[in-house]
Amino acid sequence: MGEGIMRLGFVQVRVTDLEGARKHYVEIMGLQETARTEDAVYLKGWDEYDHHSIVLRKSDRAGLEKMAFKVHTFEDLDKLEKNLQHYGASIKRVSKNENFKVGEGVQFKLPSGHTMELFVDMEYEGKALPQVNPAPWPDGLLGVGAPRIDHLLISAEKPHETIDFLMKALNFHMSEKVVENEKSETPIAAWLFRSYTPHDIAIIPGKDEGLHHFAFWLDEFNDLRKAGDVFSKNDVPVDVGIERHGITRGQTIYYFDPAGNRNEVFTGGYIAYPDMPVVKWTVDQLARGIFYFNHRQEWIEGFTGVTT
Ligand SMILES: [Fe+2]
Repeated sequence: MGEGIMRLGFVQVRVTDLEGARKHYVEIMGLQETARTEDAVYLKGWDEYDHHSIVLRKSDRAGLEKMAFKVHTFEDLDKLEKNLQHYGASIKRVSKNENFKVGEGVQFKLPSGHTMELFVDMEYEGKALPQVNPAPWPDGLLGVGAPRIDHLLISAEKPHETIDFLMKALNFHMSEKVVENEKSETPIAAWLFRSYTPHDIAIIPGKDEGLHHFAFWLDEFNDLRKAGDVFSKNDVPVDVGIERHGITRGQTIYYFDPAGNRNEVFTGGYIAYPDMPVVKWTVDQLARGIFYFNHRQEWIEGFTGVTT
């Protein structure tokens, strides 16, 4: 007996300068490089044990190539495949090692055109800490020292279709949504989860196939202060922050990688259970939903208008 999707497994993002991006993610974000090929770099955070959670791929533009979610069992994978087909997705089987170090899986497109994959196995790498009597954190972390990837936010021309698909075909749960007014139910944007956090993926209005950002988890608010110091010291372009989200109650800094992909360092939020009542944000209060401290319109416009 399985339980479906477990968590976000990895994001595969396009970068224009592979070496420049590698340097940023390793030396500034403090990720560990686990492999490198001619056109790709594989990375993981110190608290992650699978081989990688981020794949940087050399390209002529920024953006999201694909996202992959890890599924509990192969039995779950088969069930999800059938369910995906039931909801009209056309499935391509992915064979073992077609994704470097990743076992077999399935690939399909969301209604928004994003490429998504499901897989069960990835080669085990281990944390940067021993499995027996570990210290709370490893020595020698560089820069921000991000422990793990947390979530991603994508854009869609018709967000409600993709939200609906993720919930029906893949059993995502909804924590929060933006609606026109208190009485309306149709989501303009939504925050969805399969793990225990307020979101593993969120969908906002924008262009199809768009990446708004993917986010790294930090353990506490003070780690955001350190991240801000590291960004300034290294001339990393900060987009917004430090801020608080009304939606998810998280705290945040947004910034850009050298290719122009927006990233986030994120902490806080709450524990999300599948039976939680969905929190609604009405569009007239959306500014507070996004930036609770500085709900200024010009911030919101710059923030929501740029995707890769
Ligand atoms: Fe985020």
